Order: sequence, then C-alpha cells, then structure tokens
Amino acid sequence: MSTKTDNVGILAKTPAISVVEMGEAYLDQVLTLFGECLGRGYVTPAHLNEFIRASGGRKKGFVAVLAGEVVGAVTCLVVPTEEIEAVSLIPFDILKKFLPQDLLAGKVGLVKSIAVHESYRKQGIGRALLISALGWLGEAGAAPVFVAAWVPGKTCNACGLLEASGFRRLFVIREFWYRDSVKKGYSCPANSYGIC
Ligand SMILES: CC(C)(COP(=O)(O)OP(=O)(O)OC[C@H]1O[C@@H](n2cnc3c(N)ncnc32)[C@H](O)[C@@H]1OP(=O)(O)O)[C@@H](O)C(=O)NCCC(=O)NCCS
Repeated sequence: MSTKTDNVGILAKTPAISVVEMGEAYLDQVLTLFGECLGRGYVTPAHLNEFIRASGGRKKGFVAVLAGEVVGAVTCLVVPTEEIEAVSLIPFDILKKFLPQDLLAGKVGLVKSIAVHESYRKQGIGRALLISALGWLGEAGAAPVFVAAWVPGKTCNACGLLEASGFRRLFVIREFWYRDSVKKGYSCPANSYGIC
C-alpha cells in the first residue's frame, strides 16, 4: 500500500494590521496601552510626545492599528553611546565590555518600550513593530541596538521575540524596574510579581 497521501495543511492569517508612525492622533490610545501593559504612569504624555514629534530625528514611535484601534506600539531612540546610562539606566561601564572599541564613540539604538494588547498577542504584531523600529534605527545609523527586556517572573516576556529577531542576551540587571519606577514615580506592573 502506498504511504503517499494527498493531505493538505490549512493555514490561516489573523486580521491585517498596519504598522504606521505614531502620530498625535494615537497619543491617548498608546498611553492607555502602555499604562495597561507596562505600568500606570510609566509613560507620560510629555514623554510620548517626544517620540511623536521625533525630537531632532533621534526618537520615533510606531503603532499597530487594526480597524482604527491601536493594538500595539513601540518607541525607539538613537543615543550617543556614552549617554546610554543617563537615558536608560543601562550601566555604560558594563555595556562597554560588550562593545568593540570602535563603536564606543558612535551611536546606539534603544528599543525603549514595546507592548501589544493582551488580546492580540502571539500573532506576530510584536514582531511587525520590532521590524519597523529596527528599520528606522538602522536608517538612522544606530548600531548595535539594545533592549532592557523585562523579566517579571521566571520568564522574559519579549526575549523569545527578540532572540528570534537576532538579539542575544548580554547580562541581567537586578531590580532594574524597581529602581526605574522609584526614580520616575510610576507604578510598575511587576508589583504583582513582588519585584517592584
Ligand atoms: C512582548 C510582547 C510585546 C510581544 O508581542 P506579540 O505580539 O505577542 O509578539 P509576537 O506575536 O510577534 O511574538 C511573540 C511570540 O508569539 C509567537 N507567535 C507569533 N505569531 C504567532 C502565531 N500566529 N501563532 C502562535 N505564536 C505566534 C512568536 O514566535 C513569539 O513566540 P516566543 O515569545 O515564544 O518566541 C507582548 O507579549 C507584550 O506586550 N507583553 C507585555 C508587555 C511587555 O512585557 N513588553 C516588553 C517589555 S521589555
């Protein structure tokens, strides 16, 4: 008897989303999304406005839109390498051990915040947002690109997505979000994990 079959695999694609630049019209929706996913007050209107206005070509935001609703967002920025600690709390002293000497005088990229609405996760929206952010950072001449990826419990929410996109883990900073939330006065969602 033949082992050949004429089975078919059925594939489906989730509704089409479009990734567009974060304009002023999306400000409120992005604030709500980031507030829900990353912590109340983590991102302020003033902070987000800098990404919307593209602040001197150094900051940029993108949103994933489905039927007029923002279902995901990412913000990213270009930073002179030696300023990374002031901007992100990533210690420059540690970071420079991982950077070739010739990159120390340059500019690096930072994916600042990325979030997808809970109901729309695991459909490739995070990846689409990341591709837009990395594309823009690449055009801006930022290399390499860093992410301080949140590890709320035993798992890292974004690490799978990041590693699949070519990122590799460098080191862990303990209580990063605790210190950041104290410094900036926001309510970090990692509270529920007893971290903040
Ligand atoms: C991290 C986050 C932005 C990822 O967004 P997302 O839209 O779910 O990302 P993607 O769908 O592109 O990829 C996520 C995972 O889904 C998988 N996936 C993508 N499309 C899929 C599909 N159609 N079916 C099943 N799985 C799929 C990816 O392979 C990836 O798997 P992995 O994490 O196990 O490697 C989202 O989980 C989030 O907002 N989390 C809360 C906020 C947060 O922690 N942000 C990061 C701070 S650093």
